[in-house]
Amino acid sequence: MSDLSIDIKISKVSESNIKNVDFNDLTFGKVFTDHMFVCDYVDGVWQTPEIMPYQPLTIAPSARVFHYGQAVFEGMKAFKDEDDQIWLFRPEDNFNRINKSSHRMAIPDFPKDFFFAGLTQLLQLEKEWIQKGKGNSLYIRPFVIATEEAISASPSNSYKFMIICSPAQSYYAGEVKVLFAEKFSRAADGGVGFAKAAGNYGAQFYPTSLAHAKGYQQIIWTDANSHEYLEEAGTMNIFFRVGDTLLTAPNNDRILDGITRKCVIQLAKDNDIDIEVRRVTVAEIKEAAKNGTLKEIFGAGTAAVINPIAGFEHAGDEFELPKLENSYASLFKEKLTNIQYNVSEDPHGWRYKV
Ligand code: COI
Repeated sequence: MSDLSIDIKISKVSESNIKNVDFNDLTFGKVFTDHMFVCDYVDGVWQTPEIMPYQPLTIAPSARVFHYGQAVFEGMKAFKDEDDQIWLFRPEDNFNRINKSSHRMAIPDFPKDFFFAGLTQLLQLEKEWIQKGKGNSLYIRPFVIATEEAISASPSNSYKFMIICSPAQSYYAGEVKVLFAEKFSRAADGGVGFAKAAGNYGAQFYPTSLAHAKGYQQIIWTDANSHEYLEEAGTMNIFFRVGDTLLTAPNNDRILDGITRKCVIQLAKDNDIDIEVRRVTVAEIKEAAKNGTLKEIFGAGTAAVINPIAGFEHAGDEFELPKLENSYASLFKEKLTNIQYNVSEDPHGWRYKV
């Protein structure tokens, strides 16, 4: 357990901005709550953390983050149940993963007590921003940036760890169709694909904009060597249902160790659904689409939750997915959100009360 009572300097806003927010019309990640958590790493030590009004930062133009992208982040959510209790979901996993990402990017580990005390004290302040009802959540974005004023290509001596929060509804508006990658790659063996390194996401923007122009919202990335194996969707891990068997790629150093992914694998086992965690080929999914055994493709991620894919394209071949009554995607979404919103039992201890 973490020490949640550690000393955090808190300065509050004089007036909340919440009255200007229409919670029924939220675009993902555009509105931020009143406060943010900030902790600086200087002289080899994480300094006393602070919670302060959400505001712009003053950072030197020579700060290493601007030149070398030495930055990592996390995505988490807080939920409010019908009794106004606030819950996080598997926050230990996010804490462990941000330090794993940091390690790969030569950023010092962030202390666990600071993470949990900062997060819970920030959420206490922002609890009005968490709306009740399934589909509503507070998206939480912890991140670390390299702040040292120096442009030689080496790791920074100073960092800023921050947490900002944004009220959220759905991540994707409308139907999601995907393109299977044939040329571009998201990650390579030995690289940083497993980490939530900022550059992993920035590097997807150009190929994804080409996909957008063709009417596809996302790319399903394939392995960089052969482009024969389906890996992840960039903002989500990806699952395929062929017949009644669920397939998903195993973790490796190119694929994000998604927390929602781990939940889906566990929920499949809990519900006696056959699941194979193995390499999935483009060829077998196209073949299954042609012979009618491909029933579903869906993505799983914190922001996106469980997102069904309506169709895909590869090498000019276009496929539509059937619209199923009892899809695995809707089953997993229901089971997962019931746990997140404290509607059902939590047999695996995933909920964390704030
Ligand atoms: C998340 O699901 O939290 C992610 O990190 C995806 C993000 C790029 C919106």
